[in-house]
Amino acid sequence: MEKLLIKGGNQLSGKITCSGAKNAALPMIASTILSDEKVTLKNLPYLQDITTMFELLGSMGADILLDEDMNFTIQSNNLKDIEARYELVKTMRASILVLGPLLAKYGKARIALPGGCAIGSRPVNYHLDSLKQMGAEIVLKNGYIEASAKNLKGADIRFDGVTVTGTENLMMAATLAEGKTTLLNVAKEPEIADLADMLNSMGAKIDGAGSDKITIQGVEKLSGTSFEIPADRIEAGTYLAAAAVTKGDIKIEGINPNRLMKVIDKLINTGAKVDYDEDSISFSMSNDIPDPVDITTAPFPEFPTDMQAQFSVINAISSGTANIYETIFENRFMHILELNRMGCDISVNGNHAIIKGVKSLYGAEVMATDLRASASLILAGLCAKGETVVDRIYHIDR
Ligand code: EPU
Repeated sequence: MEKLLIKGGNQLSGKITCSGAKNAALPMIASTILSDEKVTLKNLPYLQDITTMFELLGSMGADILLDEDMNFTIQSNNLKDIEARYELVKTMRASILVLGPLLAKYGKARIALPGGCAIGSRPVNYHLDSLKQMGAEIVLKNGYIEASAKNLKGADIRFDGVTVTGTENLMMAATLAEGKTTLLNVAKEPEIADLADMLNSMGAKIDGAGSDKITIQGVEKLSGTSFEIPADRIEAGTYLAAAAVTKGDIKIEGINPNRLMKVIDKLINTGAKVDYDEDSISFSMSNDIPDPVDITTAPFPEFPTDMQAQFSVINAISSGTANIYETIFENRFMHILELNRMGCDISVNGNHAIIKGVKSLYGAEVMATDLRASASLILAGLCAKGETVVDRIYHIDR
């Protein structure tokens, strides 16, 4: 079993660029199903979830080619199998992203129903209810979603709750539907606008992605494209948090700071100095000890749930007490018990964590539970005294 060994106590400094955004890349790979032509994706991150998504498309019959510049070209015409099997869905819930494209292009899809996961129950009812409003027939059978539709029809749909992958699924499905679709109460995450940009470069007619109303005028078919995936805002935020806990001095290049303004604001509240221009962020920790910062996670543009665990560590070594409210996922505090084993003083009551800053953390053997939780354990290891061993690092590979 592979583990990470971290010797704590070093200040981070230097320049770094981020990989392409995982949560933009996953729906983009799924969206290649909508076209018969070749789609080239540049700047894909080197991550397990990307491999899993390729495995899923490959299992349906898509051709996937990697060139010498590490660009992937995908051709998903004439898929033979329109199924996402449980073996893949259980390792990556984002497999649900093939549902909309398969229904729109092939009129049917069979997708294993994602169950619970490490961070919460995560149902997909908003995806299914909205697709039904476009004329899809959906039954749940033997643990699978079985969906069919002769022709998806444009509709006016208001989501019952804000969902990132649900918005993406519907946006993809509507590109090839008959007529106009209006989506209301949608997610506004930057990755949704990225996906819309890519689909529009393939001939789709999408307006308003990134706002809370998206309109899509269905077209007959989509062409191929070549598209570069923008940098990952959560990876950038994680590097900034790593610098914050090590009194570091770093510059992140190739990232649009507007994608993580709430994170930057909170870092400034800890006493850090943060400067940015349109595609870079410079960070230095001028405070000896970070000031505590209260956080409530919420959909974009508010503070992202995917940065909550990392900020738990900043607060854990802060000069006071901080409150964190996790409002997106009901079980996203699994890292707290492990952090307490490293000397943190954190108590959890439902979706509320109370973090009392301590003078120092010490290395320990800890176990990763999900990908962002793993990141927080690494951050704690970087600022702890002695050695930290992080087990179950396959979560980090995701
Ligand atoms: N929800 C429902 N019903 C639905 C869909 C969602 O009740 O049909 C609930 C969820 O249970 C959750 C909330 O709505 O409580 C929001 O879930 P959402 O659907 O927005 O999450 P997601 O689309 O499954 C994406 C990211 C997550 C990120 C969340 C929130 C991808 C592939 N995943 O998940 O990323 O945390 O949005 O921003 O885009 C990560 O990268 O570590 C990660 C978990």
